[in-house]
Amino acid sequence: MFEKRGTVLSKFEELANEFKDLHGAAPRIFSAPGRVNLIGEHTDYNEGFVMPAAINFSTAVAVAGREDRTIVIQSDQFADRAELDLDKPPSQGTHHWSDYPFGVAIKLEEAGCRLRGANLLIKSNVPIGAGLSSSAAIEVSTALALLDNSGLTTDRLELAKNCQKAENEFVGARSGIMDQFIACFGAEGHALMLDCRSLESTPLPIPDGVKLVVCNTMVKHQLAGGEYNKRRAECEAGVRVLSPHLPKTASLRDVTLADLESYRAELPEVVYRRCRHIVTENDRVLRAADALRSSDLQTFGKLMAESHQSLRDDYEVSCRELDLMVGFANEVEGTIGARMTGGGFGGCTINLVAADRVDAFREHVSARYTKAVGRNPEVYVCTAATAAARVQ
Ligand code: GLA
Repeated sequence: MFEKRGTVLSKFEELANEFKDLHGAAPRIFSAPGRVNLIGEHTDYNEGFVMPAAINFSTAVAVAGREDRTIVIQSDQFADRAELDLDKPPSQGTHHWSDYPFGVAIKLEEAGCRLRGANLLIKSNVPIGAGLSSSAAIEVSTALALLDNSGLTTDRLELAKNCQKAENEFVGARSGIMDQFIACFGAEGHALMLDCRSLESTPLPIPDGVKLVVCNTMVKHQLAGGEYNKRRAECEAGVRVLSPHLPKTASLRDVTLADLESYRAELPEVVYRRCRHIVTENDRVLRAADALRSSDLQTFGKLMAESHQSLRDDYEVSCRELDLMVGFANEVEGTIGARMTGGGFGGCTINLVAADRVDAFREHVSARYTKAVGRNPEVYVCTAATAAARVQ
């Protein structure tokens, strides 16, 4: 809620008012959540398992139609506005923040959705570059806004896939489906266990008395984008070596640890370790889902710890700040599990913390991190939120 001219306005009312001031029309507003991933990192593009939850940080897009076929976009997080002529779509992004929403518009058109021109105004509180999927939040909210503005609807799964395509083909990040999927299908109070091959998902309730605490290291190392695509290529290299021996292997999803050990000698050492992370992480997600179903939080926390180690040592996507943050979390009584979350190289950790220990956790981790790194971390106590929707 924001205070304005003596009245208390919801963030959506405030966005609607700003839109009216800019464009002279009352908008409709669509919102999509960011996400945190409890376990299952870098497994999505290997057709494996992930366990994300949508969070109560979101991106809202206000929309109203235009007479032409231009999309004009502005955001509260960036000073410049951008325009896209739907009749002259570029084939690639330009490394501008508008690549995400414009990529979505272009991919929707390629999928046969004839879009009307639109004015869009975006307001978001999903931290950018923090690994909480601000990009999927902007993609999915924009997609819903543009479709509605054109009198169109689409299947949610198709919508998630088109948003992923925008990121893969237009932005140039070869990301998996996890972030767009959870923005489209998140369920309040639940994480989703998602099979990234079948795209079937099962809601798993977040147990009472446990909080999802996200710690932002406030660093994002430059390597992030290039290294992400490199990891994906290394996994594909592993499949190329293994599949002649294991004919049913379409992706690392199909490989067991025993398979991997059998052909270890044929794999470059780095590729072997990348594959080992994926194979063991898939197994951890399955065991974590069982643990959550049977309220075995101790096992869940142990699996989170193993996931972090594997991401640090085998997949090499952690960094000093993430490792420190996880270490400090583990010093607090009441921490059930702690690990990096998202793509890595900075960004956030996810911590499951006993509800009555959250204040002590925040104090301890913040003080220890600030002293060690010289930066104040941000700590967000999140709730598992619902999927993208029209909100006004
Ligand atoms: C990013 C990508 C996701 C996923 C994670 C790592 O968030 O967008 O598809 O690969 O990294 O698990």
